[in-house]
Amino acid sequence: MEKQILLLPGDGIGPEIIAETKRVLEEIARMYRHTFRFIEGRIGGDAIDATGSPLPEETLGLAKGSDAILLGAVGGPKWDGNAPEKRPEKGLLQIRKALGLYANLRPVRVLEPLMGASTLKEEVLADVDLLIVRELTGGLYFGEPRERRQINGEDGAVDTLLYTRGEIERILHQAFQFARTRKKRVVSVDKANVLESSRLWREVADEVAREYPDVTLSHMLVDNAAMQLIRDPRQFDVIVTENLFGDILSDEASMITGSLGLLPSASMNTSKVGLFEPVHGSAPDIAGTGAANPLATILSAAMMLQYSFGLADEAKAIEVAVDRVLAQGVRTKDIAKASENAVSTTAITNAVIEALALKSASSR
Ligand code: IPM
Ligand code: MG
Repeated sequence: MEKQILLLPGDGIGPEIIAETKRVLEEIARMYRHTFRFIEGRIGGDAIDATGSPLPEETLGLAKGSDAILLGAVGGPKWDGNAPEKRPEKGLLQIRKALGLYANLRPVRVLEPLMGASTLKEEVLADVDLLIVRELTGGLYFGEPRERRQINGEDGAVDTLLYTRGEIERILHQAFQFARTRKKRVVSVDKANVLESSRLWREVADEVAREYPDVTLSHMLVDNAAMQLIRDPRQFDVIVTENLFGDILSDEASMITGSLGLLPSASMNTSKVGLFEPVHGSAPDIAGTGAANPLATILSAAMMLQYSFGLADEAKAIEVAVDRVLAQGVRTKDIAKASENAVSTTAITNAVIEALALKSASSR
């Protein structure tokens, strides 16, 4: 198989984790005789510094001409004072929107060797395996108007939470289709006791559910969902929700695994060009120190192989290798206990690449 992959390293630890993940993909290409052509583009603060724009036209062009996109992270204190249009995060929002990547998949799987890394009790965590399906191109992130304005003679501001039936339908279909490949349970999270957009969301969810009689749909208010995720995360299979709720719940859910450094994500639509990125940010405080955890990005690359290229075996091989490395006790600082020695970004990647070579002795 021959594929072109656009690497968008971005800011902070982005370049380090992308460089390491590229090595893992090169090893996969070698092992399974694929040809991955890597090209690189700018996004975020890096792009602002070079071109003045967080998402240069050139990057968007490269994205459209590629088979998949692997992104590191964007943002940092250097650009915090910038105007809204010149913030690194804007580049990320623009590329999601420009490519129509409305379905954001954030799987949360507890890895047995890491149970001790979570702040939650082990008996709550055993066997957690859930998938957050976050709507990614609508809601408060994109609704107009969004502006500062005078309200009753005072400084005010407005953001708009807006969804159309079509936007809700398509993300619900995604959730139901993923549920069919899993435990066939969808929880739709909203705030229908307060928000009009949530009432529409709930109506549409019930309608879409009729097309999937084999899948069970239930509704949960977002405040309750936040609580239930910590109280008993095992009750969830697929969670589907609007953009901002999904942003918040996915950071919360990452703590079930013990570290934000472990959570991959895929942003897709019905075409093939997906964008794959870790859920975590650019961690400018540790950039360049070699302490960054590359595993969320490596697992995002596995999602890329699976969802954009249909390479399920190769994806599984990466997941098994990551599990094995963690079982061996190899840890970056974010997941190491005080008593354990933390290893560098490069060292843990080397361990993953070595574990890949053992794939024939798969333990799962
Ligand atoms: C995420 C991030 C982004 C978001 C930021 C960086 C704009 O938090 O991918 O979850 O809010 O979507
Ligand atoms: Mg977030």
